[in-house]
Amino acid sequence: MKITLSVIKADIGGYVGHSESHPDLLAQADVCLTKAKRDGLLADYHVTKCGDDLQLVMTHEEGEDSEQVHQLAWDTFCECTEMAKKLKLYGAGQDLLSDAFSGNVRGMGPGVAEMEFEERTSEPVILFMADKTSSGAWNMPLYKMFADPFNTIGLVIAESMHQGFAFEVHDIKAGKKIIFNTPEEIYDLLVFIGAPSHYMIKSIYHRGSGNIAAASSTQKLALIHGRYVGKDDPVCIVRCQGEFPAVGEVLEPFSFPLLVQGWMRGSHHGPLMPVALKDSTPSRFDGPPRVIALGFQLANGALVGPRDMFEDVSFDNARQQAKNASDYLRAHGPFEPHRLPLDEMEYTTMPQVMKKLANRFTSLD
Ligand code: F6R
Ligand code: MG
Ligand code: MG
Repeated sequence: MKITLSVIKADIGGYVGHSESHPDLLAQADVCLTKAKRDGLLADYHVTKCGDDLQLVMTHEEGEDSEQVHQLAWDTFCECTEMAKKLKLYGAGQDLLSDAFSGNVRGMGPGVAEMEFEERTSEPVILFMADKTSSGAWNMPLYKMFADPFNTIGLVIAESMHQGFAFEVHDIKAGKKIIFNTPEEIYDLLVFIGAPSHYMIKSIYHRGSGNIAAASSTQKLALIHGRYVGKDDPVCIVRCQGEFPAVGEVLEPFSFPLLVQGWMRGSHHGPLMPVALKDSTPSRFDGPPRVIALGFQLANGALVGPRDMFEDVSFDNARQQAKNASDYLRAHGPFEPHRLPLDEMEYTTMPQVMKKLANRFTSLD
């Protein structure tokens, strides 16, 4: 059975500030998706949140980029925005960048990760959702899962994975894409994905079967809109077990709270802290950035789950490390490298300050 798994998310209002989602919005989204399931468009769905982002997890047989499914997500976000406006939630409708839907939510504000595949005898998937960071945050974890034998021992000792994986990388500034084959091209791959604000891993394929293994959302809200409208707060789907990394190999990269861009005003570096769903409530300095991992088994399109994978105590050290790193970085205040370089900040007063002071700059010689 060919099934499409679509995760479509948007920040359509925060509670309180940008720290959390109001339960009424999730309830409203549930009403919309129940109807779509009853009408037969969706095989199944799960409504959840990560911080201030509303997450719609949907299974169906319409394929990727389905106009009907994207329309459903858009309409759901619009209905929830009405609710957010009534509650006067913060930034109500902030990720809906257009007044009218035109066939696909890509480029209109919401984030999208989708993949179509033949459901296996058993189909474990993990959905990663992050808040207060950008799409490039997945580069290092995905590299570790699918190309680093120090993370994924299966690459070395499991015959099903020994051939390696193909990485589709997007240059989100030039609007171009390229495929790298690992392991033989890892040095070339790293030249690009080591710069995650410019080059982002979009998807990963098994090199033997050609089957899709992972898909991420890569939209850059700041670039779409031309001005600051909120961080990307990306999502990522990863298939596990068999010819793909085991569940534990997929989770392992997050035992290290890597530094990512985002946090306060989308203009700082901060550690990506793995947390349970209940702790996806970025509060300290609007952060630090968080990631949750929800595990599902698919059963003929039904979403059996979720299991809250980062609730596990074995991620306590990563959380502690993230808190220590937060103290250390925060002590830099407005200085780089806590604050992002000038051209990476999503909030800046530089043009106005420069204009005001232009006459006071004199030549050095
Ligand atoms: C970061 C974020 C928050 C806001 C900050 C200012 O992604 O969402 O840190 O940038 O609370 O709020 P606004 O930008 O809504 O004035
Ligand atoms: Mg927000
Ligand atoms: Mg958010």
